[in-house]
Amino acid sequence: MSGLLIAMCGLDGAGKTTQIGMLTKWFEHNNVQLYNTKQPTDQYRNDPRVRSYLDNGHVHDMRVIAMLSAADRITHMYDLEQRLDAGIHIISDRYIYSSYAYFKVRGMDINDIKNLYGSIRKPDLTVFLDIKPEITIKRIQARDGHLKYEEKDPSIFMNVREAFRTVLPEDALIIDGERDPQDIHSEIVLNVKTIISAKGGYSYGVK
Ligand SMILES: Nc1ncnc2c1ncn2[C@@H]1O[C@H](COP(=O)(O)OP(=O)(O)OP(=O)(O)O)[C@@H](O)[C@H]1O
Ligand SMILES: [Mg+2]
Repeated sequence: MSGLLIAMCGLDGAGKTTQIGMLTKWFEHNNVQLYNTKQPTDQYRNDPRVRSYLDNGHVHDMRVIAMLSAADRITHMYDLEQRLDAGIHIISDRYIYSSYAYFKVRGMDINDIKNLYGSIRKPDLTVFLDIKPEITIKRIQARDGHLKYEEKDPSIFMNVREAFRTVLPEDALIIDGERDPQDIHSEIVLNVKTIISAKGGYSYGVK
């Protein structure tokens, strides 16, 4: 069986890292080979044009930032495809859907954004940890308080949350990210097990 691609999506502070950590332990407990990754890569984040936009809101043409994001994610997919073909499961911290949602909010046409990506692999499981914008802000403040330029207007979180709902795949697992972390984890594991058995993979013991 080829590896499962699991995408963990959500607003800042939604609990992605927390759930990825728990799911990683679950895979390790079951002796399954796993590769953890994140999108976009630091190459995108460190590009001076991207930094200038994220830090100061400077951009000549939003398509340039969108193209840099797409180039980064498409390149990253080459690497992931090989691992999936080798039967390795992958958890991706964020996926193309955050690019779709953010660039939609930044004023681009959704079809123009999607055209940049072409036919990119749909994850076997897309998890969207859904939290209210005010919870995002609270969690960011509790972490380090650092806000990107565009996050200084808190309506961005509401708009991105709305946009996510329109761009996620139909079979995305939308979970209330304000529930107890252990409950969220159990729901994700249940879905992972179902998908593995549907793909004809081995079954795991209950943790
Ligand atoms: N279900 C939950 N209930 C309450 N607090 C949570 C929950 N999940 C995570 N947290 C807390 O919220 C904060 C942000 O969590 P985490 O770092 O996992 O989010 P994230 O989605 O990875 O954030 P970022 O987008 O900034 O990487 C942490 O302090 C974490 O302990
Ligand atoms: Mg994180």
